[in-house]
Formats: sequence, structure tokens, C-alpha cells
Amino acid sequence: MPAALLHDLILDAIQQRGPLSFADYMRMALYEPGYGYYVTGPARMGWEGDYYTSSDVAAFFANCLGRQLRQMWDQLGRPTPFVVLEQGAGRGNLALGVRLWASQEDPLLAAALDYQTEDIKQGLDALTSQITPSVILSNELVDAFPVHVVEKRGDQLLEVFVTAENGRLSETLASPSSPQIATYLDDYKIPWRSFDDGWRGEINLDAEKWMAHAAQLIFGPSPKRKRRGFILTIDYGDLAKQLYSPYRYHGTLACYFQHQLTDRPLVRPGEQDITAHVNFTALLQAGRKAGLRLDTFLTQREWLTKMGIYDELEQIKQRDFAIIDTDRASDQGQIALFQWYNLRQRVAALTEPSGMGNFKVLILKR
Ligand SMILES: C[S@@+](CC[C@H](N)C(=O)[O-])C[C@H]1O[C@@H](n2cnc3c(N)ncnc32)[C@H](O)[C@@H]1O
Repeated sequence: MPAALLHDLILDAIQQRGPLSFADYMRMALYEPGYGYYVTGPARMGWEGDYYTSSDVAAFFANCLGRQLRQMWDQLGRPTPFVVLEQGAGRGNLALGVRLWASQEDPLLAAALDYQTEDIKQGLDALTSQITPSVILSNELVDAFPVHVVEKRGDQLLEVFVTAENGRLSETLASPSSPQIATYLDDYKIPWRSFDDGWRGEINLDAEKWMAHAAQLIFGPSPKRKRRGFILTIDYGDLAKQLYSPYRYHGTLACYFQHQLTDRPLVRPGEQDITAHVNFTALLQAGRKAGLRLDTFLTQREWLTKMGIYDELEQIKQRDFAIIDTDRASDQGQIALFQWYNLRQRVAALTEPSGMGNFKVLILKR
């Protein structure tokens, strides 16, 4: 069984190298070639998998993204080809949806659009792409990058490491594994010393590296003539001040196994998803360092509203569901009513303020 083998591989690594930082453990659990959660196994997403995402819920999401891409295309002067690279694209639902929307709504854009997808599942590291896109976008990618975990003890910040006890994985605390981890919260002016003992937070250093690399891809190979473009990141998370707050005492690390949320990342390595909320201030700052500027930072609910999700819903109602007002009691009227509730429910799932609606949408540009 691969999961048992991965567990043994992790034990071997601990025996050889000593306790692993949580980030190193998470890297093995999610990405170990041949064994990690993201590189093996059957469908993880969708109703039959461990979790579902916005692109599983509705075409509305892809249509809003299509309208966003059209705005970007216009702002860039309608280049042909208009290369869009989606990273961490999973099964490619979003790509399909956007292509379909463009072919129906905007044939000129459809003709120019070269929408490419990458996923670690394809056996290539998305971070090494050689494409020169005008837009890099991702939905729920950055939350999957390995994170370090820190814990406040007295006036010290310690790091969580994974060790082994009698053949089982367990946690231990020690000094931070690098100066970057030790000063990270201070760099974001987080008053962690005033938080309660035992407070935890996650530190995603790969997110910053990824942003720097994505910016390079947008700018293209010539250091002199930097190209223009956008990086659009959708994920759960928040600005640093909100993310690293005393109210999130346990941090944001979460595991998903067959649609159930668990808080035991050391069980079933390779069989469950492990994620943490994204520090959007870190993405913004890394982007700025790389020469990008802030274009948009909204909740998913606000962004979908701006991109016309409710207008689209209203148009569909007028076009396809007039019978609800004219002949609701008939069989056809009842069927229409049922379908209409279903559609509205999908939009509600995407915009629900305490769920996906609270995801964040960050657009950086140059
Ligand atoms: C939560 S899923 C989201 C999939 C898709 N974007 C959607 O909205 O349905 C995360 C995806 O990112 C991929 N992934 C995770 N880490 C990656 C990495 N470092 N490089 C490329 N893809 C990655 C996973 O294989 C998975 O398909």
C-alpha cells in the first residue's frame, strides 16, 4: 500500500536527518514522487473525491473569469495570441469553462486565447514552466504549498518539527529552522508576543518564491524589454494582520479526507490533503519586489459581483424561467422552479460570506 510505504519513507528520512520541519514533512506527504497526495491516486477533487472547489460548483465561476480575462486582454491591447497559463489546474474544468464561454460570448477573444494548463500531476513541476504568458492564474494552488508551523511559548517563537516515537510520527518543538522563519512574523509586524501561549501560525516561504518566479514568467526572457501582464490568485486566506491574529489560536492548518475536515496532519500521509490559509500580504509584497503593482484585492463574493455573476443569473431567469411567473402551477412551471432554485443555490455556494465567498482574489499587474 503506497500510504504505508510513504509513512516508512518519512520514518527513514527522520532517522537519517533528524526531525523534519513540518514543511519538509508536508512536502513529502503531498509531493513525494510516486507517493505524495498530489502526485498519486484517483480523483481527489469533485463530489467523489476529498474536497470540491469553485470550478466544480458552477459555470458561473468560469464565466466570471472569462469576463475578467477579456478586461485584461483589452488592457493589454488585445494581443494575439493571448497566452493564459493556469497553474494547479487539476482536472482542467476551469479551462474548459472559460474556453466555452469565450467561444459563445466573444469569438475574437476565443480566436486569440491560448489557454494553457499545468498541474503537478502531469509529472512536471509547474514552477519550471518555460511559457511566456500574459496572465498567470490559479485557484486554490498556493494553499497547497508546504508550510512551516510556529508556536508561541513564553516570549519565544518555536517551530514544529515531525519526529518518530516507537515507529509513529509525532510533533516536537525546537528553535526555528532558519532566520527567515524566526523573523517572519516580525517582518509583517505581527504582535505575536502578546498572544496566548500555545498560539500557532503557518509560514509559507514557497508562496513568495512562486510569486517571484511567476513575475519572471510574465516579464519574459529579455531583461531590458519587460512585457506587461497579470497574475491572478484565488485562494482562501487573508492579509497578514487578519491571518496571524490571537483569535486564530490554532492557526489555519487543515486536512481533508473524503470531504471531512480533520486536524491530524500526521495520520495517513499521502492519503489526505493538507492545506493552510494564504498570507496575501506576503504575495503582494513578493509581487511588489518583483516589479508588480496591486490591481485588485477583493473577496470572491465581491469579485464575482463585480464580474457580473448576479447580472448573469438575472438574465438567465428572464430568458429561461419566465414560466415561473406566468404558469408556476403547471408541471413545466414546477420543473422550472426546481431548476431555478438549483441555479441560485450554486451561485449562493460561490458567494456565501462564511464559505467560498470569503476566499480572496488578488490581481497584480505590470
Ligand atoms: C485544490 S486543487 C485545485 C484545482 C483547480 N485549480 C480547481 O479549482 O478545481 C489544487 C491543485 O493544485 C495542484 N498542485 C498542488 N501543488 C502544485 C504545485 N506545486 N505545482 C503545480 N500544481 C500543484 C494539485 O495537483 C491540484 O490539482
